[in-house]
Amino acid sequence: MKKVTTHRLSEMKLRGEKISMLTAYDYSMAKLVDEAGVDVILVGDSASNVMAGNETTLPITLDQMIYHGVSVVKAVKRALVAVDLPFGTYQGNSREALNSAIRIMKETAADAVKLEGGSEVIESVHRILSAGIPVMGHLGLMPQSIHKFGTYTVRAKEEAEAQKLLSDARLLEEAGCFAIVLEKIPAKLGKQVAQELKIPIIGIGAGSGVDGQVLVIHDMLGITQQFSPRFLRRYHNLAAEIKGAVGNFIQDVKSVDFPNEKEQY
Ligand code: KIV
Ligand code: NA
Repeated sequence: MKKVTTHRLSEMKLRGEKISMLTAYDYSMAKLVDEAGVDVILVGDSASNVMAGNETTLPITLDQMIYHGVSVVKAVKRALVAVDLPFGTYQGNSREALNSAIRIMKETAADAVKLEGGSEVIESVHRILSAGIPVMGHLGLMPQSIHKFGTYTVRAKEEAEAQKLLSDARLLEEAGCFAIVLEKIPAKLGKQVAQELKIPIIGIGAGSGVDGQVLVIHDMLGITQQFSPRFLRRYHNLAAEIKGAVGNFIQDVKSVDFPNEKEQY
């Protein structure tokens, strides 16, 4: 089984083969997702929400991202693994950005890092890339900037923000990023970016005209229940399945149905 590389992803774009990407934060889930054949696994800072129960992605630390990264990388044989640089570890200071990225690469053995932003963080992007670390960009809705946006609504609907997104995407490609995630933007803009750029564009709520799609694993499996944006297709209702199984266990314990004769020593 050949490991997915950044080179392979660019070949997929050339061939017109769409790229599948999902998040994972732990060994057991990453193993299943990888064995199912997904192309890219993202150790997203959405771990802050789905793993740690925070309202935003801001509180998660580099040490915590590394913990998740180590667990995921141990499980993955085929997918390319990218780890999010968390809030506060790469903005404003490219030296700190490089150190953060180096820690991720050394301590997790992941294949790449991802970070949010365009022109604001381009020095950090250059510096990380100069150390030979592959970088995935992230534009559009950037959850680490939620306090600036003030809302999780669709981004770049206005011309000025759309133009800024386009120029940021060009900047990231010129710098040498191997791919860009576009989150929650009009489908028309997503398609335009994907057509203009040579590097793969992975969308989440960016329409069907991009080069691949990413979802948060807990959302697409229906483990999370409250969160229901338009772009989220639920492939399962695992919340109901889990609650059902747990309910059955409780009942069996209470009624002393479990353990039975064959389930004891
Ligand atoms: O952290 C995350 O899960 C992400 C994806 C939604 C792209 O950044
Ligand atoms: Na993220």
